[in-house]
Amino acid sequence: MLADPGTLERSDLVAAPASGTRTVRIGLAGLGNVGQAVARLAPEAARLATAAVRFRVAGALVRDVSRQRRCPLPPRVTTNPEAFLRGHYDVVIETFGAIEPARTIVARLLGRGIPVVTANKSLVAAHGAELVALAARRGTTLRYEASALAGVPFLGALGERPYVAEVARFVAVVNGTSNFILSTIAREQCSFADALARAEQLGLTEPDASRDLDGLDAADKLALLASLFGWGSAAPADVEVRGIRELGADDLAAARQLGGTIKPVVWASRTEAGIDAFVGPAFVELHHPLAALAGALSGIQFSGRYVTDLFFSGPGAGPDITAATILDDAVEAVSSTRRFAKPIRKAAPRLALTAPETEWLVRVRFPGVAPDETAAHTLFAGVGLAVTGANDTQGAVRWLRIARTPRARLTGALRQLLHTHRVDCYAIRSLR
Ligand SMILES: NC(=O)c1ccc[n+]([C@@H]2O[C@H](COP(=O)([O-])OP(=O)(O)OC[C@H]3O[C@@H](n4cnc5c(N)ncnc54)[C@H](OP(=O)(O)O)[C@@H]3O)[C@@H](O)[C@H]2O)c1
Repeated sequence: MLADPGTLERSDLVAAPASGTRTVRIGLAGLGNVGQAVARLAPEAARLATAAVRFRVAGALVRDVSRQRRCPLPPRVTTNPEAFLRGHYDVVIETFGAIEPARTIVARLLGRGIPVVTANKSLVAAHGAELVALAARRGTTLRYEASALAGVPFLGALGERPYVAEVARFVAVVNGTSNFILSTIAREQCSFADALARAEQLGLTEPDASRDLDGLDAADKLALLASLFGWGSAAPADVEVRGIRELGADDLAAARQLGGTIKPVVWASRTEAGIDAFVGPAFVELHHPLAALAGALSGIQFSGRYVTDLFFSGPGAGPDITAATILDDAVEAVSSTRRFAKPIRKAAPRLALTAPETEWLVRVRFPGVAPDETAAHTLFAGVGLAVTGANDTQGAVRWLRIARTPRARLTGALRQLLHTHRVDCYAIRSLR
């Protein structure tokens, strides 16, 4: 038979499996950073005695067959979805990225009873519940551990204990690039621009860094987590989102003086009406587990009806850790004991999002020399804000800790201070 012009055929050189080891045929939808890492790691998986599987990558679907790949090439690489779907697979790994055509291809595979593993955050956030339901109807499974904090595999742990670990609130660092920048500024007292340049040198930034720096990637992940925890669908555009661009070495030094640090945080709590949530830089005290997440690490702490402050951390992303998480999912997907992924449960309504009432850390630039702490307390009390702590004065600038206040009231009070006393303020949230 003649090969499709968009298809590359190679002889299958994979040797017969060792006895007692099952051979699992993988279809790779996508052979980019993550897909190639899967193709590189898959041949090694047989040495894991506990996995008892041997992977054979049987085919791949890509956009451009002529592109150079940094992995062993599968015997069949095609640009033709129909040719790809005709392959015989025990599990298909989807690493395309966007919603379409991933959604159509995944739905067709699940519809045929073929298990699918995906790393696609957009797909799971938008269509996870409907695809999980389709998989269940067809007696198969969709696994998506790598879609949310790929290097922090916590969903499997929750899925094993869905009642005990019912999640009611979480706080997390989900954007490794932002965390790297703030950690570097804190450690080296360098400027924001220098820390960003370092992140770029290390390849930690996307071509469009604003998704990381302005909190947009974190807002997407917050919506994904809300969906994965079975809360419902949250629109990232409805979340209060702040970026990290306004922070510098003096701010991190002031936070340190106040017994904490500043981390790029997503925070969410389930309520009767929807969720309270925000995304942005936040002051965390040094004993908080998020404070210890150095470099580009990610982490999530969650609590529920029965558990409090469960904490998972690890590298946020990266092709190899993502591929390892995907292969673990693939083993589970083809094993008969764990058929259904948790904790997505059912399609849930659109959630109403509210900005929570928290404590605050406010950088205050006074028009002359900063007043002493008592005078600052009096000034802020005059606009209804209770100061609970302050760092040492740095010329005209001082950071003040403010007691719990709704954002609207804080914003109004700070605007009043600017108007009446020419006091210029920048506020971030503060977590206990
Ligand atoms: N990179 C990470 O560290 C990481 C970590 C966790 C999760 N993820 C998620 O994993 C997914 C993949 O990320 P990545 O970095 O591997 O992306 P990538 O390098 O852009 O790879 C995407 C792959 O999908 C193929 N593809 C995309 N659209 C296609 C289409 N319409 N038809 C055929 N092939 C198509 C591309 O083909 P060509 O190669 O021919 O262009 C490419 O091989 C994303 O959902 C991402 O969010 C990534």
